[in-house]
Amino acid sequence: MKVLAGSSSRHCARELASILKADLVEVEQKVFPDGEVYVRVPANLRGEDVVIVQTTYPTPALLELLFLQEAAHDQGAAHITAVVPYFSYSRQDRVFHDGEIVSAKAVAELIELKADRFITVDPHKEHILGFFGVEAHGVSAVPLLAKHLEKMGVQTVLAPDKGALDRAQFAAKCLGAEFDYMEKTRLSGTEVVMKAKSLDVRGKTVAIIDDIISTGGTIATAAAELKRQGATRVIAACTHGLFLNNALPRLHANGCDQVIATDAIETQVSPVGVAPVIADVFLERRG
Ligand code: R5P
Repeated sequence: MKVLAGSSSRHCARELASILKADLVEVEQKVFPDGEVYVRVPANLRGEDVVIVQTTYPTPALLELLFLQEAAHDQGAAHITAVVPYFSYSRQDRVFHDGEIVSAKAVAELIELKADRFITVDPHKEHILGFFGVEAHGVSAVPLLAKHLEKMGVQTVLAPDKGALDRAQFAAKCLGAEFDYMEKTRLSGTEVVMKAKSLDVRGKTVAIIDDIISTGGTIATAAAELKRQGATRVIAACTHGLFLNNALPRLHANGCDQVIATDAIETQVSPVGVAPVIADVFLERRG
């Protein structure tokens, strides 16, 4: 087996190759001055079981993934797995307004052209996996995040809204903590209060967990409220940390004592590696 480390997922690819005892191939990648992407795979892939690890954010990284799949296909790889720790475009998972497209489906259709299998981590919605015409797996990083949160002494896990409750409940179960979700109550035209639906957070170390932190707006609002309601420490946790528009300083300024994410997107706050849960898909198959 050969594991190709795409430029956006080098850390994850190295760990995956090490767990699977597979050969690691560091892909050569550069971007020309006009923005075009170049890749070169310095290895012979003929007849190989090839695993390409590449998060598809930012968008040129998606093109890089497709080029690597092309390389594996052209060289005559026996089997191609696309491991995409963070599957971008996944939030456009349905038509919200007339005339839109389902971007997640469009991207899935590009990837499946030259892949026999697709693996991602914490897909935004499970039905996204159904957009692939090949075997598709979504693995969860929540137990790995929970292990980290347990070491940080987290007593309460909160979802930023009711829709994200399942994830918070799962994390709470893994670390043996209580869980709840944040509820918004509109007091007036301009005043909104956000508080844990039924739990009292006073004096507690609380984690707010979401799948994606993008601008950090959702969690910053929740964290500021939790601090106002007496939480001692607030930790923001997510699988996919995009951290756009100065999200990290904004989260800290709004009361987040710590922010943790996984290396599904490799950032300065990605202490949790997702390779072990991705490796499980391969190891289960080997039996
Ligand atoms: C939304 O559907 C996602 O689960 C996140 O809650 C959202 O992307 C967070 O966005 P932001 O960090 O910009 O508030």
